[in-house]
Amino acid sequence: MTAVSLDSFRGELERLRADAEAALAEAVDAAALEAHRVEFLGARSGRLKAIQKSLGGLAVGDKPAGGRHFNEAKAAITAAFEAAQARIEAGGLGPAAEAIDVTLPGEPIRLGHVHPLTHTIRRVQEIMGRLGFESVDGPEVEDQWHNFEALAIPAEHPARDPLDNFYLSVARTADPLLLRSQTSTVQIRVMENREPPLRIVSLGRVYRPDTADATHYPMFHQVEGLLVEPGITMAHLKSVLRLFASSFLGGDVHVRFRPSFFPFTEPSVEVDMEWGGRWVEMGGAGMVDPAVLEAVGYDPDVVTGFAFGLGVERIAARRYGVDDIRDFYRNDVRFLRQF
Ligand code: DAH
Repeated sequence: MTAVSLDSFRGELERLRADAEAALAEAVDAAALEAHRVEFLGARSGRLKAIQKSLGGLAVGDKPAGGRHFNEAKAAITAAFEAAQARIEAGGLGPAAEAIDVTLPGEPIRLGHVHPLTHTIRRVQEIMGRLGFESVDGPEVEDQWHNFEALAIPAEHPARDPLDNFYLSVARTADPLLLRSQTSTVQIRVMENREPPLRIVSLGRVYRPDTADATHYPMFHQVEGLLVEPGITMAHLKSVLRLFASSFLGGDVHVRFRPSFFPFTEPSVEVDMEWGGRWVEMGGAGMVDPAVLEAVGYDPDVVTGFAFGLGVERIAARRYGVDDIRDFYRNDVRFLRQF
């Protein structure tokens, strides 16, 4: 007989008693009851029997106390068994089932709501829709043609640097695929498949290997706008952006253009919006470069167009007074519930 300390003997008994009482309280029918009887009280291989056998391993002086503990546990388990038996014979469901009061009012289901960025995207689509711009989607995995080439970004352009793009490593070819770095890709995809006139917006994710900080994240969203028709000028561009901004931010929002450069627009501008006394840069825009129109088979002598690209996080941050765009991605419900 292996030596057993009184403490561990007692611990074993306590555990067995807790197990048995819990199992018996949950038993719902005679079959379950019988299974528990065999497991706990069975005369040959029941767990109580097994502990009884280890009684002999106690030091001689501990035996009287051990015996007392054993008898107490056995009495408690037997009582729990009898109580369960009486309950089942009386047709009761058990304390667990009886504890459910079906007349109590239920817990209200807390409805969630769309994410502030999703909400922003839908608002932009709705406002631009009223201005006649159809919302279209484009793929997030792109080829060199749509992300760069057709947008007049040649092979030697720094924007194509592997350090500034997520090229797919499986595609070590002359034409590696990449996660699109801008939604301007959709301009090309639409123009390749449709004839002017056209007015589209495309909202979606873009990817750049930037270090995350308050204003950068390796994945973010852009709104791309494109209008192609005969006789379009920068004045149309500014009016559309101003109507959009006033509608989105509320009140009379001023739009300012600053000269800039993008390979796919000529002339190109940075777009600032003034709201609440502060100017904030929202993105870029310009007249679609004739080289881009030619790349998709349009005749630049017949049609002109404007394009713009704005940051969704930026306009959402502006609108909601968020000063760190990382908050949009942390999924902290205390943040999200505010919208
Ligand atoms: N694609 C540009 C970027 O990601 C933004 C942009 C600028 C889009 C000018 C345009 C545009 O359509 O005309 O930085």
